[in-house]
Amino acid sequence: MKADEIIKSFEISDDKLTQLIAMMGHELEKGLDKATNDEAEIKMLPSYVTSTPDGTEEGDYLALDLGGTNFRVLLVKISSGNDVKIEMDNQLYPISNELMTGTGTQLFDHLVKCLWDFLVQRDMMCQLLPIGFTFSFPTKHLGIKKTILVSWTKGYTASGVVGEDIGALLNDAINRRFKIRCLNFDLKIMSTVVNDTVGTMVSCAYDHHDTCMGLIVGTGTNMCYMELQKNIGTIDDGDPNDGSEMCINTEWGAFGDNSGALDSVKTFYDEIVDSESPNKGQHVYEKMISGMYMGEIVRRIIVDLHKDKELFESIDPNSVLLSCGLSTAFVSQVLHPGFDTTQIQQYLTGFGVKANENDCNLLKRICEVVSSRAAHLCAVGVVAVAKRIAQNRGTKAPTVGVDGSVYRRHPTFKKILLSKTKQLAPDLDISFELSTDGSGRGAALVAAVESRLQHLQT
Ligand code: BG6
Ligand code: GLC
Repeated sequence: MKADEIIKSFEISDDKLTQLIAMMGHELEKGLDKATNDEAEIKMLPSYVTSTPDGTEEGDYLALDLGGTNFRVLLVKISSGNDVKIEMDNQLYPISNELMTGTGTQLFDHLVKCLWDFLVQRDMMCQLLPIGFTFSFPTKHLGIKKTILVSWTKGYTASGVVGEDIGALLNDAINRRFKIRCLNFDLKIMSTVVNDTVGTMVSCAYDHHDTCMGLIVGTGTNMCYMELQKNIGTIDDGDPNDGSEMCINTEWGAFGDNSGALDSVKTFYDEIVDSESPNKGQHVYEKMISGMYMGEIVRRIIVDLHKDKELFESIDPNSVLLSCGLSTAFVSQVLHPGFDTTQIQQYLTGFGVKANENDCNLLKRICEVVSSRAAHLCAVGVVAVAKRIAQNRGTKAPTVGVDGSVYRRHPTFKKILLSKTKQLAPDLDISFELSTDGSGRGAALVAAVESRLQHLQT
């Protein structure tokens, strides 16, 4: 049966996973080395975030959070002293496909319009506070203040943004809107741009001090971690005896793009999903793991098996199953622990599908193997990075701050990730802490740390 072959093609042996850990470790080193960084697939982008919060930060900050399922604006109030606490007020704003794929000016004007509406609702317009901007795409930091977009990922293609300074685009858009609405408006804000992994790690480190890795498994996937500055060849060399660290945004989604490391585990369905994506050949590891692609991989398998009469008696010709991307929520629903065959059958009716009991079992099996493979591959990355940290710091028990819709909402992903990580690295004791309130809180904390350090310098 074709179904058996497909299911088998999604299974990766532990030996192969162990080989992949070594390959990923090698790619991480290539990205850190100045001599090989240009050709390296994992870019290992220095974030210039060198300190995590120490509890003395305080003040009110705004945070913008772009790149996940929704855009968020947040007001974050940090108090220190005897009553250390963080209060947050936030609002979600959807980002349409037109904005993702239109012009950069339209996109940034929309972000600032949301910020303006947020402030108006709170009677705070024209009072611009320091801004932490979580921008969840690969960016190159030229110091903490200049952040260049390297490439878009996750379906974004807005024109005129790649190669530009994100902070400057945001400031320009703020100027356009605020100048005509606020008398004597003078843009003096400090906006600090961070990746969502960095925001997640910093947010988690505030509550769990041994957090040194930040993981996202959501629309996309990525990891950051604290690296010794002396090992980062792409920044000015630090003192080799100095133990200072800097957070590296790995952009591990690109693992396998040039090295071919994943070729032997890629399936026919990965190839099609990649070839039909706007960034073909890029971020292939991400496409085998994250939420933007998991549902689509399952959909492609369904369509193929249906064509070969191995799955579902009938599918309505107008069903989304036959036309466009299927969300990972579908996979999560099918695998929901409380869902029995009758409930799956009912659920499938909504997709114009007539399914018998065997169909439901096969569909579950497909969702299971696609999800388990994603969690196994993600464990490969976690172990490869944790091994580096063990080598650098001697820390065998790192804490990973983690967030993202797949990690939070998929019914089995988290459990499989945790157990595979343990199994692949029995000598390490890696713990995962769900980052509370997302990475926007972390971005505000990075802005607060920046303010604290600036005050110390003046
Ligand atoms: C949230 C962050 O914590 O996780 C976002 O605040 C991030 O910035 C997101 O991108 C990832 O989740 P998703 O599933 O919405 O892509
Ligand atoms: C994509 C982005 C990366 C981000 C990740 C998770 O991989 O390139 O910057 O961290 O998605 O949102």
